[in-house]
Amino acid sequence: MNIIVCKNYEEMSQHGAQMIASLVKEKPSCVLGLATGSTPEGMYAALVEMCKKGELSFKDVTSVNLDEYYPIDPANDQSYRYFMNHQLFDHIDIDKANTNVPDGTAADPVAECKRYEQLVTDLGGIDIQILGIGRNGHIGFNEPDTKLMLDTHVTDLTEDTIEANARFFASANDVPRRALTMGIGTIFKAKKIVIMASGASKRDAVSAMLERTIDTSFPATMLNLHPDVTLICTADVLD
Ligand code: PGA
Repeated sequence: MNIIVCKNYEEMSQHGAQMIASLVKEKPSCVLGLATGSTPEGMYAALVEMCKKGELSFKDVTSVNLDEYYPIDPANDQSYRYFMNHQLFDHIDIDKANTNVPDGTAADPVAECKRYEQLVTDLGGIDIQILGIGRNGHIGFNEPDTKLMLDTHVTDLTEDTIEANARFFASANDVPRRALTMGIGTIFKAKKIVIMASGASKRDAVSAMLERTIDTSFPATMLNLHPDVTLICTADVLD
């Protein structure tokens, strides 16, 4: 795993944005794998800035997001579709029809997961997949378990994740209990993976990931098997 240490959140965000910008310039019709959460917000703001200045165009880019709560309406301000529209898509020149997030309103969530997996395959995989890391080691909503699923699937959220995400909802009771998420195999369809982590609260998770062991109860350790992974983190993550 390549490791890039940044002095602060701003530098980490700029670095992530530059990696995406280089790819988009080199391959304007690339497929970006995107993530939600607090970690990539600064990176999305930096990309919006580049696009507004005319330095970057997303007009031929396709995006696929990692996951979505289930069930949830896209108009709900906690849905990942809402997050992506507000943090990025509404402010850049991407064609919204080419932005993909699992459908939190699908009547048949299993069929929706199948459709999503096929979509990623049909796109020819992902050029660069951005990931955050959960304090419990989850990537996307691949939660610690005795088995990890390869394909996009419906999953129950762990109490840890419900508690970590409750800060965005009126209360922990309002956090949806399920999600639709890319599986480990879907994520591994990415040619390049960039995992971002900022702040001391991610120290234990990142150090467990860097131990070079594989453990399904710590899904981020799976990334040690992928040939092209870069960790971009702030210095305090590695203290
Ligand atoms: P965060 O979430 O960026 O809000 O810390 C990361 C994750 O849980 O994957």
